[in-house]
Amino acid sequence: MNVKERIFQLREMIEHHNHLYYVNAQPAISDFEYDKLMQELISLEKQHPEFADPNSPSQRVGNDTDNTFVQVRHDYPMLSLDNTYSRQEVEDFHERVRKALPSETIEYVCELKYDGVSISLRYENGRLVRGVTRGDGEKGDDVTANVKTIRSIPLILKKGNIPVLVEIRGEIFLPHKGFEKMNDERAEAGEAPFANPRNAASGTLKIRNSAVVAKRPLDCYMYYLPDENLGFGTHFDSLAAARDWGLKVPPYIRKCLTVQEIFDFIAYWENHRDTLPFDIDGIVIKVNSYRQQNILGYTAKSPRWAIAYKFKALEAVTKILSIDYQVGRTGAVTPVANLEPVLLAGTTVKRASLHNADQIALLDIRLGDVVIIEKGGEIIPKITGVKADERSADSEPVTFITSCPECGTGLIRLPGEAKHFCPNETGCPPQIKGKLLHFVGRKAMDIGCAEATVEQFFNHGLLRNIADFYGLNKDMLVKLERFADKSADNLLKSIEESRNVPFERVLFAIGIRYVGETVAKKLVSHFGSVDTLMAASYNELIQVGEIGEVIAKSVVEYFKNPQNRELIERLRSKGIQLTRSEAITRVSEKLKGKSFVISGVFKSHSREEIQKLIEDNGGKNSSSVSSNTDYVVAGEGMGPSKREKAAKLGIPVITEDEFIQML
Ligand code: IVH
Repeated sequence: MNVKERIFQLREMIEHHNHLYYVNAQPAISDFEYDKLMQELISLEKQHPEFADPNSPSQRVGNDTDNTFVQVRHDYPMLSLDNTYSRQEVEDFHERVRKALPSETIEYVCELKYDGVSISLRYENGRLVRGVTRGDGEKGDDVTANVKTIRSIPLILKKGNIPVLVEIRGEIFLPHKGFEKMNDERAEAGEAPFANPRNAASGTLKIRNSAVVAKRPLDCYMYYLPDENLGFGTHFDSLAAARDWGLKVPPYIRKCLTVQEIFDFIAYWENHRDTLPFDIDGIVIKVNSYRQQNILGYTAKSPRWAIAYKFKALEAVTKILSIDYQVGRTGAVTPVANLEPVLLAGTTVKRASLHNADQIALLDIRLGDVVIIEKGGEIIPKITGVKADERSADSEPVTFITSCPECGTGLIRLPGEAKHFCPNETGCPPQIKGKLLHFVGRKAMDIGCAEATVEQFFNHGLLRNIADFYGLNKDMLVKLERFADKSADNLLKSIEESRNVPFERVLFAIGIRYVGETVAKKLVSHFGSVDTLMAASYNELIQVGEIGEVIAKSVVEYFKNPQNRELIERLRSKGIQLTRSEAITRVSEKLKGKSFVISGVFKSHSREEIQKLIEDNGGKNSSSVSSNTDYVVAGEGMGPSKREKAAKLGIPVITEDEFIQML
């Protein structure tokens, strides 16, 4: 067997074992043997790049490039389902179907309603070429790179009777086990936990680094083929075929001929949903025959041939023991009820958010009250009602606190705002910590410092404001618990490197209220340096495009404060960039009126840098190739569909170098 044949054989073997493990849950070889096959494949592919294939199982580990999610139009819109909440509504649905199909036998297919993120996969000649999120139903984000890391999604369909082109829809989700493991890891790294598996799955799918996604245990069930011209008569048969092609089609599916059978299916899963290793939020009922589906048709938003039956939120009754007030990073105060522990949907609940003063008044919640709590999708349940008749005669309405529980400053509540907040921005511990964390963020100074570390430094008095990062040294760090030599070096190196961060990101990192990434860019390109910006009046600020009154006022207020001015001086003395850098001043009108689409990965610039160069020189960025596009700038791994489209429309495709020459 020659190398090429061996590579192809290894790929097939590995995908076969992937299928046995991730789709059928019946592994046939040990992890060790599997790893050996994978290592052989990776090493052969490395030695023979001429046989590279984006759909090789070796690609499932993802890559570190910062991928952007291009918006693409769905060939078939991704509709939603009408929701029903009662048996009566299910009967009404059946009645409507029966009326539209007089004297016909109607067969339904009942399935579970998976609580995740919907996805549309496209296979061309059996190869996965695209994964797109639902988006607004018409257009979604191309998340192919991330989708390819999900082991239960085949990269190549099994040989056999496969359509040349097939689109298949399903739900990406995180099983409970994976979700818990992930949240444990986040807690350890000092990161906020995800509220529920659905949020975690949707957050994960939007990560720009597919190597990170590859480490998250996402799974996917497929449940719908929107193309009716594939030769199947029924939905059930189309799913059976998809299963034969190697796709993960769930086994929890039943044909029903009567409403009673549908009710039985609903009742069974209402009682057994907690035995499943993943979340569901209801049942989906679909008319099986494609012919009948066609007669029933669609409304603007959903098919008339299917509905979802949603389970009721789970409720419990308990008692309010006390109320705490939490101060967030922005100074907003949230009241939280401490409850008598009660079991709800498999977890013990001890706390519930009360949101704000209005919410407490609205429900007339009092200390000692017996309350009804409900678990929506969130970890912290909400209080939906009070049993007022069970309260004692001397109970009194809650009086909201008037001063900050963290720093004692008097709370304020702005007209029109629901939340109270603490105005002591520079002296209130959670707010200081919030500012420190914002400063080190990836889009800000990109200093590799986890939340727990910031907390630790703050508690030891090493950090009081953002400039203090530049006063840290190794002696200070190694004295701290859990701080090894290596991590101290890494942190100091990362702080050192942040001196090169361009002014626009520094300005964002400082954390002036309402100055987000885009506003910071606008201010920097207009004013050029912190000195000019500090000297700018309110009137000068609102002259700048897209800078409104609220932002202008906030900027003026910020620089009026002597403490903030001193902070800027300290940053300056540490060598932080406070003027516009050369690259950014490269502005011209050379690309005026030209529309660009960029695709792929570039050698000397990041995608963001290319996009910025286009804008700075008067051009426009667009995400999809159309007749309005003037140039496509192609990097490595440019999508074939883009290339095809550009060729079809006769739009020039240029390289990175050619683009730079245009400037
Ligand atoms: S079928 C045209 N089947 O529910 C009908 N959807 O509100 C296409 N969902 O966006 C959808 N489980 O994300 C279908 N077994 C299932 C489902 C399911 C979950 C989600 C899906 C869809 C939403 C509809």
